[in-house]
Amino acid sequence: MSETMLAVRRMTKRFGGLMAVRQVTLEIPQGAIASLIGPNGAGKTTFFNCVTGFYTPEEGDILFRGASIKGLRADQIAWRGIARTFQNIRLFGEMTALENILVGMHPRLKGGVLAALTGLHGGEERRAIARAMELLEFVGLAGYGDYPAVNLSYGLQRRLEIARALASNPALLLLDEPTAGMNPGETDEMMVFIRRLRDELALTVFLIEHDMKLVMGVSDQVSVMDYGQKISEGTPAAVQSDPAVIEAYLGTVSHTMMEEFDETPLPPEARG
Ligand SMILES: Nc1ncnc2c1ncn2[C@@H]1O[C@H](COP(=O)(O)OP(=O)(O)O)[C@@H](O)[C@H]1O
Ligand SMILES: [Mg+2]
Repeated sequence: MSETMLAVRRMTKRFGGLMAVRQVTLEIPQGAIASLIGPNGAGKTTFFNCVTGFYTPEEGDILFRGASIKGLRADQIAWRGIARTFQNIRLFGEMTALENILVGMHPRLKGGVLAALTGLHGGEERRAIARAMELLEFVGLAGYGDYPAVNLSYGLQRRLEIARALASNPALLLLDEPTAGMNPGETDEMMVFIRRLRDELALTVFLIEHDMKLVMGVSDQVSVMDYGQKISEGTPAAVQSDPAVIEAYLGTVSHTMMEEFDETPLPPEARG
């Protein structure tokens, strides 16, 4: 029997007159890979920002492993076991890859790595560095520990961001457009890597993603937002053939995205 990792109930977040998230209810079982998709401006990042404590929703509740986290600060939520990456990479560019991960071990501290390390002495510091090295290796950055983050390729910076998120030992990992700006080869590697996060680290993964091949290939469940509302949810196949989803995407999506979206053949009964 699997526990519910995240349960969001009728959550609403407004910016002035705009309802960026409108009465959205969504559950993610432990061990799932769940995706949140929808056109630009649908409210996906705002949804993540509410779950991770960057914003407090005006209405509704957010339960993490059965306990409400609504109203907690971002660092408190991080300590409870939710980590995230950002749509736009947020690394300390002048710090090394290793130092960026060490900072990730201390979500309470907003200062630099020196501040993060002041609390560590002797064996504790050695253990922290050993763990950071393990994480570098897990994300495919073995040997890059001494590189300033800014010198890493874009694809490697994305992986370093994930390593930093993993450093806080989360149970739930939120990835906001992990393949944004990646080429097709890097995107395929990311798909394999997301599976490893679940299979090897036993994480529950919740991702916002535009690449439909990745979404359809990796997700146990897909939720679709449009204009702040959840308009569809289900298996990749069910969501892909939902007329409401096709309509939402037809309105806004670029041709290349639509081509990718059409790549998986429709079931026979859906063909003309
Ligand atoms: N801090 C903010 N202040 C005002 N409006 C915002 C803010 N953040 C997001 N929005 C608006 O909320 C809507 C949803 O944005 P966002 O959650 O970023 O969408 P998505 O991630 O699906 O592209 C957009 O109309 C956006 O302009
Ligand atoms: Mg976004």
